[in-house]
Amino acid sequence: MKNDALLERIRVYWNEHIHDLEIARHPIGSREFFGELADYRFEKLDYLPRVVDFSAYKGKRILEVGCGVGIDLIRFAKHGAIVTGIDLAEVSIQLAKQYFAHEQVDGELLVMNGEALQFDDNTFDMVYAHGVLQYTADASQMIKEIHRVVKPGGEAIVMVYNRYSWLNLMSQLFGIALEHEDAPVLKKYSIKEFRVLLAPFARVRIIPERFPVKTRLHHGVKALLYNQIFVQCFNAVPKSITRPFGWHLMALATK
Ligand SMILES: C[S@@+](CC[C@H](N)C(=O)[O-])C[C@H]1O[C@@H](n2cnc3c(N)ncnc32)[C@H](O)[C@@H]1O
Repeated sequence: MKNDALLERIRVYWNEHIHDLEIARHPIGSREFFGELADYRFEKLDYLPRVVDFSAYKGKRILEVGCGVGIDLIRFAKHGAIVTGIDLAEVSIQLAKQYFAHEQVDGELLVMNGEALQFDDNTFDMVYAHGVLQYTADASQMIKEIHRVVKPGGEAIVMVYNRYSWLNLMSQLFGIALEHEDAPVLKKYSIKEFRVLLAPFARVRIIPERFPVKTRLHHGVKALLYNQIFVQCFNAVPKSITRPFGWHLMALATK
């Protein structure tokens, strides 16, 4: 396969960079560790429970591609979904297994490449991939695979980063590093490009989300100005104006 070497670099990188690990204070793999990662995630991504109805898939088969340690996947499972999570990084899948065991929740967790899914066509009611396509070697190939394993009439929920967003602009103006900027692949999309990527799906709705929230990660004057002035001012502007510039492009797609 032409991307084998790049996929290997991606695998190595993500084995060494668990998403949001820098906020963890408890020992890696402990019950409290997963608790604090989940709290941080839903504070930072406060839009997630509004856009994704985690309780709507009771008895349905869900696949999460690039599930990381399984923070979102376990939410679906706790609401009764039959879940499978795959990730290229063994460390993520090991941790996800520990998380599911701590919470006594069932789930199938497998090391697998999302660009070559080992599932039959039309297997899942919904496939979820949050913050994954932008980090893989061939995003079109991953979408092709996601589309293949979704049942006819089933859904995909996919998030990529918005090139024309407040965060990308800030990072370019002030040299603020984006999360995982050092990853082997990090792509950003315009809404138009994202639509082209999702072309295999019959219907696609794209919702820009992820507006500024106070940072807990940074300290000092810059962080103070950011928290006290920028976040407040930005969020005072009506969403009807700022919405197109959200950092996360959430796509709700139907096959
Ligand atoms: C930014 S993390 C996001 C993790 C999780 N979805 C979340 O939102 O917390 C990106 C994840 O995508 C996974 N990934 C990247 N390319 C992949 C591929 N080709 N197949 C499966 N997983 C992949 C990485 O290993 C990593 O766990």
